[in-house]
Amino acid sequence: MSSPHINKIAVIGLGRMGHGIAQAFAAGGCSVKGWDESPTARQSARKRIRSNLSGFVNHGAMTDTDATAALDRFQVCNSQAEAVSDAQFVVEAIAEVREVKVEWFRQIESLISSDTIVASNSSTFTVRESAVEMKTPERAIVTHWFNPPHLVPTVEVVAGPNTKEEVTTATIDLHNRIGKQAVRVNKEVPGFLVNRVQIAMIREVWDLYEQGVASAEDIDRAIRGSLGFRLSVCGPLSVCDFGGLDIWSAVYARLIPDLRRDTDVPDWVTNLVEAGSCGASSGDGIHDYTPESVKDQSWQRDELMIRLQTLMNGESQTG
Ligand SMILES: NC(=O)c1ccc[n+]([C@@H]2O[C@H](COP(=O)([O-])OP(=O)(O)OC[C@H]3O[C@@H](n4cnc5c(N)ncnc54)[C@H](O)[C@@H]3O)[C@@H](O)[C@H]2O)c1
Repeated sequence: MSSPHINKIAVIGLGRMGHGIAQAFAAGGCSVKGWDESPTARQSARKRIRSNLSGFVNHGAMTDTDATAALDRFQVCNSQAEAVSDAQFVVEAIAEVREVKVEWFRQIESLISSDTIVASNSSTFTVRESAVEMKTPERAIVTHWFNPPHLVPTVEVVAGPNTKEEVTTATIDLHNRIGKQAVRVNKEVPGFLVNRVQIAMIREVWDLYEQGVASAEDIDRAIRGSLGFRLSVCGPLSVCDFGGLDIWSAVYARLIPDLRRDTDVPDWVTNLVEAGSCGASSGDGIHDYTPESVKDQSWQRDELMIRLQTLMNGESQTG
């Protein structure tokens, strides 16, 4: 089960995350089969991947030949059984509903060979929760990608209580081999590592917005131009060391008592969600959107991420 032999991947669920995960594996040299229960998702998957790949080509991050080869390595299947039959590594990116995940892990076993690794891209459910009805939970693991998965480097790898060490090692090797940054999360904590940090930050950001400390535009600008800028280069613990732990501990002690600490979703967010104002997908949320502005902002985001990725790949090769 060692990673160099894993090059046949199946991705189940080809929505926002699944199609990008399939693309990342195909661009990394793997042969990828995908399936989604929705005919619309199946029909559009190749088109979405082609469009993403053309972004890489347009920004000089991939040659046209490599993009075509990556697309050729991705195939949409007519059934889940067909997609997973010869897969060595299957990853699901289906609905974030515990019962759906449990049922998917239960039924997938009869469709795959005995040493196929089974992974979940769940944002919150551990395999302790989702693979609970699996007869062979020793091959179940969480691989948590970030949106957009074909661009964001980190993939959190979280073993369950029964996951074999060789499954974890092979999963980490596989993701590193396709150019991702696999991070081993040692404990099965809810939300894993990154989402806990993200939600801690979002609670405070929502609070500052609610209090009117700055406008939505200025909050986004301030965080992008400071923490966002710095964190793409130095991790938060390095930032503490370089700033000085003496300074950080003083700032921590001064500010912590004043930060938001309750656990309810703020009423203003609940009201927006109940009104259907969920953000870019509905045209309004914290900011307002038109279909054109969503497209423009998505392209701009992808373009900057591709350029950043190219820059950082160059750095890691030279450094
Ligand atoms: N959206 C994000 O930012 C993000 C980030 C990290 C992880 N995730 C996780 O990834 C998973 C997918 O999220 P998404 O944003 O891509 O959702 P999505 O709704 O865009 O896509 C889910 C796809 O799965 C399909 N599907 C649902 N149940 C299925 C089943 N039983 N079999 C086959 N196909 C099925 C749906 O038709 C849909 O196309 C979730 O577990 C989510 O928590 C999402």
